[in-house]
Amino acid sequence: MRFTVTDLLAKKRQGIKITMLTAYDYPFAHLVDEAGIDMILVGDSLSMVIQGNENTLPVTLEEMIYHTKIVVKTTKRTMVVADMPFMSYQVSIEEAIRNAGRLVKEAGAHAVKLEGGREFLKQIKGIIEAEIPVIGHLGLTPQAILRMGGYKLQGKIPEQAKRIKEDALMLQDVGVVAIVLEVIPSDLAKEITESLEIPTIGIGAGFHCDGQVLVLHDLLGLFERFTPKFVKKYANLREDILKAIRQYKEEVEKGEFPDIEHSF
Ligand code: KIV
Repeated sequence: MRFTVTDLLAKKRQGIKITMLTAYDYPFAHLVDEAGIDMILVGDSLSMVIQGNENTLPVTLEEMIYHTKIVVKTTKRTMVVADMPFMSYQVSIEEAIRNAGRLVKEAGAHAVKLEGGREFLKQIKGIIEAEIPVIGHLGLTPQAILRMGGYKLQGKIPEQAKRIKEDALMLQDVGVVAIVLEVIPSDLAKEITESLEIPTIGIGAGFHCDGQVLVLHDLLGLFERFTPKFVKKYANLREDILKAIRQYKEEVEKGEFPDIEHSF
């Protein structure tokens, strides 16, 4: 049985931590599902870790639909959340509802996530009224990279912290099912988590959150460009893969592969 939004809220009430990871394709979605992670985020981070772009802005709705469809088809028990990419919800309420609808109808997503607080409240309300569960995203919102001027800690100064806390309550009031808190001080995340009935999912927001999310390629050591302070590398797959490919190259060049065992 798939993990649902009801299970998400039940976990918060029972004080059980929620697990979420990104995945974008068959091999990794299969592994994340098999490992028993509650939710997969088909994040717009795919723009960076799959497409090799500098930031998350270029990925399109069509590309998000393509990847979400694969992840939904691949998994059996995890809830699949699709990120709404940059400019798929900013322009109008109608566009936001239509595009969230495409992620559900065409790709099979079980919920959508979108960045921002009060500035996109109307869009979020519209999507929820169309019966699509929404996960909010506050703090460091990578789609605002051009305004923020870099991937920096948010909510450090009191006015910023106040705004994030208010936004969290506003998101809860319009009916989001959870809120991702990215790169904010742990104490602020604790305050927000305690003030909400819905779960918080932290990334660089400390251990007080109700759950955690990481970009899978960071956790596995597959993204070489930079490693933020909050990422724990549980593996170094990049090195293992490089070693395997170099060994293959060497064996082919030396005539050692294919050998008798791998021939007919
Ligand atoms: O796109 C993504 O992977 C995300 C996570 C960093 C939360 O939004």
